[in-house]
Amino acid sequence: MPDPFEKIRNLTAEKDFAKATDPFALFGKWFEDAKKIEMEYPEAMCLATVDESGMPDARMVLLKGFDERGFVFYTNMESAKGEELKANPKAALNFWWRDLHRQVRIRGLVERVSDAEADAYFASRPRGSRIGAWASRQSRELESRFALEKAVAKYTAKFNVGEIPRPEYWTGNRVIPLQMEFWHERPFRLHERLVFLRPSPDAPWTRKLLYP
Ligand SMILES: Cc1cc2nc3c(=O)[nH]c(=O)nc-3n(C[C@H](O)[C@H](O)[C@H](O)COP(=O)(O)O)c2cc1C
Repeated sequence: MPDPFEKIRNLTAEKDFAKATDPFALFGKWFEDAKKIEMEYPEAMCLATVDESGMPDARMVLLKGFDERGFVFYTNMESAKGEELKANPKAALNFWWRDLHRQVRIRGLVERVSDAEADAYFASRPRGSRIGAWASRQSRELESRFALEKAVAKYTAKFNVGEIPRPEYWTGNRVIPLQMEFWHERPFRLHERLVFLRPSPDAPWTRKLLYP
């Protein structure tokens, strides 16, 4: 009889959880593990927001920076997510690292990164992506694919070989966590869960284990 849990039987988070007092340090360790093992997009995360009626909305984005201040992604602030965050600057993030059998869940407050930080990241992007940020009216109705291609051609001609400035509406958001949960898969759904909580960004973290 093949063992359905062969791949995860000997993996455990017990050591990581026993000594963890700083959720940013534990995230850093797990993210490094993910970068070594996950085939593609270890930095992909599901971003959840709510609209003004309280209806949840979720989509994938890429983590472009993280430190003790929080988790940064970039987007068009005139998109659905951008409008939702303007009305309610709170979000949840979810990372699932399939091959590690790990999940990290984050909930927190959202603030925009500084213009200098956004400018530096925008400037590091490939030229095509910078033109794309000008050409795409993200999340609004597109009359045809051709309309998008025309917009790309227009901005390619406009910027020619010169510098491409960052559109004002395109920037980074930092999720400042108030809650971070680390989840590690174990056989028979007896998963390990460790959650860190703080009532505000300047308060100290408390931690507790959770039933799976
Ligand atoms: C793996 C992956 C990574 C993505 N990364 C981003 C990103 O970093 N920023 C972004 O605006 N959209 C990203 N997208 C596209 C979004 O999922 C989404 O389609 C888009 O931002 C519009 O979402 P909205 O209408 O809810 O605003 C990504 C999609 C996938 C599948």
